[in-house]
Amino acid sequence: MAGAPAPDVGTVLDDPLMTRRLALVGTGSRAAAYLLRLGRHADSVQLVALCDTSQVRMDRWQKWLRRTLPAPVPTYQAERFDEMLRDQRPDLVVVCTVDATHDRYVVAALEAGADVACEKPLTTDGDKLAAILEAKRNRPDQRLNVLFNYRYRSEFRAVKALLDDGVVGRPLAVDLSWPLDVVHGADYFRRWHRDKRWSGGLLVHKCTHHFDLINHLLDDEPELVFALGRTAFYGEHGAGAAASDPRFELRLDHPALHALYAEAEVETGYVRNQPVFDPGVTTEDTLSVTARYRGGVQLTYSLVAYSPWEGVRLAITGTEGRIELFDRHVEHETLRSDLTDGMTPDPGIAGVRRAVVVWPMFGRPYEVPLEAGDGTHGDADSALVDQLFHPIAGGLPIADEQDAARSLSLSFAANESITTGLPVRIPPRP
Ligand SMILES: NC(=O)c1ccc[n+]([C@@H]2O[C@H](COP(=O)([O-])OP(=O)(O)OC[C@H]3O[C@@H](n4cnc5c(N)ncnc54)[C@H](O)[C@@H]3O)[C@@H](O)[C@H]2O)c1
Repeated sequence: MAGAPAPDVGTVLDDPLMTRRLALVGTGSRAAAYLLRLGRHADSVQLVALCDTSQVRMDRWQKWLRRTLPAPVPTYQAERFDEMLRDQRPDLVVVCTVDATHDRYVVAALEAGADVACEKPLTTDGDKLAAILEAKRNRPDQRLNVLFNYRYRSEFRAVKALLDDGVVGRPLAVDLSWPLDVVHGADYFRRWHRDKRWSGGLLVHKCTHHFDLINHLLDDEPELVFALGRTAFYGEHGAGAAASDPRFELRLDHPALHALYAEAEVETGYVRNQPVFDPGVTTEDTLSVTARYRGGVQLTYSLVAYSPWEGVRLAITGTEGRIELFDRHVEHETLRSDLTDGMTPDPGIAGVRRAVVVWPMFGRPYEVPLEAGDGTHGDADSALVDQLFHPIAGGLPIADEQDAARSLSLSFAANESITTGLPVRIPPRP
């Protein structure tokens, strides 16, 4: 049966006269990616409710948004989420809560007839994922998007275009190394991410981004996985514990951090700045994953969360050459004067920030020009949230629950492999 013809590129996909009613659950720091972009989408989305376990955080967001919102929006405690769905009838629900709680909101919002945009990771274990996929199957006409923003950083878009053009022939091997630095990486060990029950560990919370990226670049999915992981640096027994360096402490005297977290501590008991070398850390900070994809590509992946710089080294080797990408993330800059006694980095070492180089098997290597723009997280977020709030044909295809399930299949299998010490086979998805 022939499907409906594809709309022309640039066509507005939602009714241009309709303003979609938006509810957001989880009003922590990530909520900013959506709430601070409401102003420029006032014609297409209207915030109708906030929901969280913390009234303090919801009230703080109301205050920050008072120039954007015509009037204060209703706030709902988390246990009143279903009531919020009934009262406010949102068309779109954005889920930005702690990872292990996403499923409860995604399923209820879908069942109430709303589209859902859920932060990554879609969820933290196989049972919750199955419940989400079931709810989505029952609601085929509603959208469930997952905000994987790495795909849209300009350097990864360049690599995708090179692969699709066959520049290195058929890819055979992928080597991806992702160091997180002692500012951003350490932050995962100060709050709920440090406990695998809430985050699934970094293999779920963080690596789901990276695994989605590889799946997207290869247009394939993993079938066999082996992983090693341990908490080598953080936690009470970590190698970093002996140092007990005050540079690992997070001070909440920054006005935004103070308002969102310090002022809300008594209300919910959520402590934002736990010492990273204290007991209670179950999340691994040192991860190595080997995987085979269905098409035969072998992946070697590593992540450490205590590196002096943060970014990515990626190499994809194929039948006709190799693509190499290097990106030192400026938005997670450790070389800050307050952390390094005013020392500035040697430009020869710290100067190269981003490069994509093609090495033909027998030809001259060349650097690939990257799109203008800073190519940061913020850039990718803007493009994604624009497409979410104001979808147009030919705009960025935002990942959906199937992409999330593909990525999580690798995360869950790697976690299982760490526990059992054995390789894990991933069954083909239905
Ligand atoms: N795409 C990205 O690049 C990116 C970046 C950062 C965070 N995230 C994701 O965004 C989400 C939020 O992260 P964050 O950094 O804002 O965390 P956060 O801790 O700052 O905020 C989480 C919020 O959820 C609330 N919450 C906790 N349990 C809840 C419950 N049961 N019901 C309702 N609300 C509850 C907390 O009170 C808090 O306000 C996470 O899923 C995280 O993985 C994505």
